Amino acid sequence: MLKKSKLAVLAAMLVTSFMMLCSTAFAANPAEGRKLASQCKTCHGLDGIAKIPIAPNLAGESQIYIQNQLKAFRSGKREHEMMSVVARNLTDQQIADLAAWYQSIEITAQMPE
Ligand code: HEC
Repeated sequence: MLKKSKLAVLAAMLVTSFMMLCSTAFAANPAEGRKLASQCKTCHGLDGIAKIPIAPNLAGESQIYIQNQLKAFRSGKREHEMMSVVARNLTDQQIADLAAWYQSIEITAQMPE
């Protein structure tokens, strides 16, 4: 009985530390994303407002959406001559940070009269 409960404690500790490791590795950091966004600013702007007409605005876009698109460009599931090159060498952490940065930008919308 004693052995079993010790094992259970050990297992719980292992699970907890593994979860902590995971959350540190993938905690998105918008400040890091802002730095990384210097690679994106010629087209999407540092503020997420696109500088070229064929690029979309990223300001305020949801983190999940940005992340999914970057992963799709990286894997080749989504293709674009510019983005496929940009995304090729991004790590999961960099993608999370970039997505957190662009999501954190606040935008307002004004509809025409
Ligand atoms: C040379 C210009 C250029 C650079 C640099 C660039 N992008 Fe893009 N990006 C584009 C274009 C053009 C598209 C539209 C692709 C399409 O039409 O499918 C795009 C699309 C995207 C999308 C998909 C958005 C959507 O609405 O579906 C994301 C996300 C994105 N870029 C993120 C980034 C990030 C993050 C960086 C920097 C690491 C970056 N891009 C660098 C030109 C660029």
